[in-house]
Amino acid sequence: MTITVNPLSPNFVAEIGNIDLREPLDKATFGALSDAINKAGVLVFHDQFIDDEQQQAFSRNFGDLETTVRAFRKDFVPRLDIHMGDISNLDDQNRILVKNDRRRLNALGNRLWHSDSSFKRVPARFSLLSARVVPDEGGETQFADMRAAWDALPEAMKRRVEGMICEHTQIFSRGKIGFTDWAPEELEKMAPVPQVMVRTHPGSGRKSLYLSSHAGRIQGMEEPDALLLLMDLIEHATQPRFVHTHTWRAGDLVIWDNRCTMHRAREYDETKVRDLHRTTVSDGVPTVLEQAAA
Ligand code: OGA
Ligand code: MN
Repeated sequence: MTITVNPLSPNFVAEIGNIDLREPLDKATFGALSDAINKAGVLVFHDQFIDDEQQQAFSRNFGDLETTVRAFRKDFVPRLDIHMGDISNLDDQNRILVKNDRRRLNALGNRLWHSDSSFKRVPARFSLLSARVVPDEGGETQFADMRAAWDALPEAMKRRVEGMICEHTQIFSRGKIGFTDWAPEELEKMAPVPQVMVRTHPGSGRKSLYLSSHAGRIQGMEEPDALLLLMDLIEHATQPRFVHTHTWRAGDLVIWDNRCTMHRAREYDETKVRDLHRTTVSDGVPTVLEQAAA
């Protein structure tokens, strides 16, 4: 079986065909997928009606899976397995969350441009998002090409930001939308973690900006200066020329490389069910150590 690779956006997004994600991956297919993701950053698969176990099995080809953060509250009852990110508007009884539900308000943070798990010392490498039920309109996911954004920066700005270390926590990202409802024991676990601002993407050798809504400080800079620089860089990196919008169909699975992309969710009619399941492949080492070793 040979997969087909149909570029939707040069060196950024490709559609993959002639593959059944329920089946074990042979070496050649894994190699072809790795080549495609190293080049593109975002891969789209259609008509993949997989269950959680099949999604986990496919995802493990790419590395160890993250477990989800369960610390929200002691009374939090998860709907899905510990390896599945619940990207839905449903509670554990599959009822649509009410407007003021804390889980809904927290999840609204996904509407800000981010890179997954950049608030963890060891962040995410790949995210694999599988659409089980989607609304007829809205609820798209947008992706920004952070390698192209790096390439397009003025040389003086490249020199300025290279070597900068940012600090990331969900306290910063949620705070931007006025969500501050954390318990003291949560705040303790959410201390900011260091992340490099510029990465070299191992699969392509290209440099990439590494930004995220979770970034809220830059080491050695005054806070307003840091926040303004982060805002300017995110504004630069999310210009329409660097952005691809994915409109979901049930059965779609999208893989993205968090090392060289950002993404965000878009609004939809929340009286409709939107149910996507995410598996996340860990990047293995902290970015600050990866940089030191390079
Ligand atoms: C995610 C995420 C965006 C969306 O799954 O990590 O940010 O469109 N999802 O739901
Ligand atoms: Mn995300």
